[in-house]
Amino acid sequence: MEFEQCLRENVPLAPMTTLGIGGPARYFADVADSEALLAGVDWARTRGVPLFVLGGGSNIVVADSGFPGLALRMCIRGIVTKLVSDHVELTAGAGEEWDPLVGRSVANNWTGWECLSGIPGRVGATPIQNVGAYGQDTSESLVSVEALDLNDKKLVCLSAADCEFGYRTSRFKSRDRNRFVITRVSYRLRVGGAPAIRYPELQRHLADLGLNTPTPADVRESVLAIRRRKAMVIDPSEPDSRSVGSFFVNPTVTVEQFSRMKSLSERWLNASEEIPSYPAGDNLLKLPAGWLIEHAAIKRGYVHGNVGTSSKHALAIINRGGGTANEILELKELIQSLVLQRFGIDLTPEPVLLGF
Ligand code: EPU
Repeated sequence: MEFEQCLRENVPLAPMTTLGIGGPARYFADVADSEALLAGVDWARTRGVPLFVLGGGSNIVVADSGFPGLALRMCIRGIVTKLVSDHVELTAGAGEEWDPLVGRSVANNWTGWECLSGIPGRVGATPIQNVGAYGQDTSESLVSVEALDLNDKKLVCLSAADCEFGYRTSRFKSRDRNRFVITRVSYRLRVGGAPAIRYPELQRHLADLGLNTPTPADVRESVLAIRRRKAMVIDPSEPDSRSVGSFFVNPTVTVEQFSRMKSLSERWLNASEEIPSYPAGDNLLKLPAGWLIEHAAIKRGYVHGNVGTSSKHALAIINRGGGTANEILELKELIQSLVLQRFGIDLTPEPVLLGF
């Protein structure tokens, strides 16, 4: 089919995002294979129109004025699995929904993803920010990525090492931002392996249930229960889940920076309070942004017009109903400036900001 037959104009993007905010895409098309993707890229280039590839819309804030270019929604589907002795090689189209795939893998007793349960979005996004949760991340199970290189319009295969993964980041989010469109991802899962139980909160939850040797399905259920408690599972009946999940990444500081922060904050923190920190290797510590935000005076349930922070997690900015992207940005900036004043830390946003 000719690309133009799939092309739509002035398509509202808000309903395609978990935040439910933002204006229309000037041009829009669903792409279900790499040929359609390539045709879309050519169409935009010929006309000098900016291009954006949308996945599940769970990590994006769209400007109120929308996006003045061509938005292609990644709809490449298909799952192929190959059993190789004690593991499975699974390749999924970038447009496959992530959580149902995790659910099916866990039901098969395949491990490597069980802690990544309840995360919204599609497969193609998982390598971009090295999606992670509850002690596991994408880089641990990823084998390779098939992507369209927009520099020469060729399909390439990148190994896990080529992806340059880090905490919530990869080559696709840093030095090669906007260069590749991910079309397919291959992962390696263990058959009947032990599930990952590394995150203290998950360990406590399983222990409270009396599960000493939990199955991958037990771990999935526990992760889902913990995420629901924090309104981090998308649920239309849970207004606090109308968000992009964490709005900021957890900052990393050196041990020296951390001691300076601690002595500066002693003046105004209660004597019983101490800034939490987690070892992050190499003289580095990771700090929970949610805690910093609450202690910089933006509590859970903070209201800013029609947006606010989730009443269950200060790191999630929510659309309380009728919210605008402008309000989201105002609250983002308020949080950043208060955390900077109080702790000397400039929080980095996690979602993609489109059309600003
Ligand atoms: N905390 C607060 N107040 C809050 C929320 C959290 O003080 O309102 C403190 C608590 O001390 C808590 C600590 O922050 O113990 C950590 O909170 P949590 O376990 O909820 O994890 P997080 O660091 O806030 C990260 C990810 C989440 C992921 C969880 C679990 C980032 C930016 N976020 O959140 O990922 O689900 O760990 O692994 O790394 C996402 O990226 O969208 C996301 C939800």
